[in-house]
Amino acid sequence: MQALRRHDRQVLGVSLQHVRTHHWWRDAVIYQVYVRSFLDSTGDGIGDLAGVRAGLPYLKKLGVDGIWLSPFFPSPQHDHGYDVADYCDVDPVFGDLAEFDLLMAAARRLGIKVLLDIVPNHCSSEHAWFREALAAEPGSEARARFHFAEGRGVDGEEPPNNWHAMFGGPAWSRVTEADGRPGQWYLHMFTPEQPDWNWRNPEIAAEFDRVLRFWLDRGVDGFRIDVAAGLYKHPELPDSDDPEADYRTRDAINQLAWNQPEVHDVWRHWRAVCEEYTARDGRERLLVGEVSVPTAREHAEYVRSDELHQAFFFDLLRTPWDADAFRKVVSEAMADIAGTGSTVTWVLNNHDQVRTVTRYGEAAPEGSGLGAARARAAALLMLALPGAAYVYQGEELGLPEVVDLPDDVLTDPIFHRTGSRMHVRDGCRVPLPWSGQASPFGFTTGGDGVRTWLPQPEWFAEYATERALADTRSFWHMYRDALQLRGSLPQLGEGTLRWLDSEPDVLAFVRGDGLVCAVNFGTAPATAPVPGTPLLASGPCPAGELPGATAAWWLADL
Ligand code: NOJ
Repeated sequence: MQALRRHDRQVLGVSLQHVRTHHWWRDAVIYQVYVRSFLDSTGDGIGDLAGVRAGLPYLKKLGVDGIWLSPFFPSPQHDHGYDVADYCDVDPVFGDLAEFDLLMAAARRLGIKVLLDIVPNHCSSEHAWFREALAAEPGSEARARFHFAEGRGVDGEEPPNNWHAMFGGPAWSRVTEADGRPGQWYLHMFTPEQPDWNWRNPEIAAEFDRVLRFWLDRGVDGFRIDVAAGLYKHPELPDSDDPEADYRTRDAINQLAWNQPEVHDVWRHWRAVCEEYTARDGRERLLVGEVSVPTAREHAEYVRSDELHQAFFFDLLRTPWDADAFRKVVSEAMADIAGTGSTVTWVLNNHDQVRTVTRYGEAAPEGSGLGAARARAAALLMLALPGAAYVYQGEELGLPEVVDLPDDVLTDPIFHRTGSRMHVRDGCRVPLPWSGQASPFGFTTGGDGVRTWLPQPEWFAEYATERALADTRSFWHMYRDALQLRGSLPQLGEGTLRWLDSEPDVLAFVRGDGLVCAVNFGTAPATAPVPGTPLLASGPCPAGELPGATAAWWLADL
């Protein structure tokens, strides 16, 4: 049983034409487009903006409300665009501003919102202002836009403090001064090619105000904000008590480098800029932050009513496959975040994480298909939760992680700076398969000889969008059906959640006046928590039963 047919839905008295009357972003489903891996229109093996435009009808069919475009700005691509050299242009690899305008117009025609990815914590070492800073004197205005400081120890050979960079190594690099001698150090919380801005300098706030307006004037619907708990550092840049821990976790543990109170003023200002545009044309803009902070409560501070509209709630994707663990994380999010008046922003996959099919399959017996079954179930769970959801490209195809890319094709700076494959992110960024039996699987207009920027494995054939669309049992159809139901059932999207009593491995909750979602985290079949026929299930679901690693939605009389 996959989904109710159209006439069955009408029997249930549900209008498919239900129109949302509230703020669009509060329960929007946004699709993350990792531009270099979505669709290539030029034949160079790298996706681009014209490719995104060509793929819009596919996304419309899937039923998403909007897209978030990973950074496409001019960049030397040391961290695939998260090292921005010019915030107000398009890298020639991805197109140009005219192509961007065409993409915006096409998205507008289809009713798809467009969010850009803005990177305010750091820029590229190729940014004009950083080059100017390198050429300038210590103590100059040009250096005051970044964190330049004298080193410690004999002749300043030691970095100014003991902070580690997130991608390995110290968070400081030393420059050579105009006289050819080793000189000051500059701070970079990621790679040396990503110098951190000094937000204590008002010029930076003014510059980002200009950048926001540049893109808002071109019609964008909002921004995904990179490292939104960053920007400000402790004013004295003191040593950290436990730099090893800060480095190991990749979480925002260094309390001196992240989550400083002043950052909230930035979000208040950005929110005011968005509202200024809304006041002009009635279109609401969205700010969604990548906020990595230790607790849900701290996270909630970023989504107070005059700050960011949303912040990704990453705890869900870090939660092991276990009913109690999921219940706890969802309850905390609902209590802390929904308590601010915002809605929770759920996410299971993105361009920095091992894809769910692989992640949930890690401890499962090989070939059991459990990873895929759990990933399907988790998706139905996420899409039934109150709030907004983000879907990462390929998630709707059930694409697994490519775990065996050879070392010599890996591009992630994490690999090159740590020498370890532990957190390497290339495996979730391999170009999407669209059609055919062999690489490049319709990813490029350039024909069969084109090599994609990361090699696609042969088994990608099985996951091509063409196949997914033709098979009603595919991940794609499940996502599409779920998104259609979200658009038509008033119980879904924003609203209340109440837990139901259930068997130990089963998580069950009711939305609104009677939409029930239940997930069986175990492997043995459980009894369905309510009588009736499922509206939608992540796998075969006999009446009265909820098989292992399966989720289902029911409309119940409670
Ligand atoms: C978070 C982004 O998602 C990631 O891809 C990037 O490497 C870091 N921020 C640094 O910008």
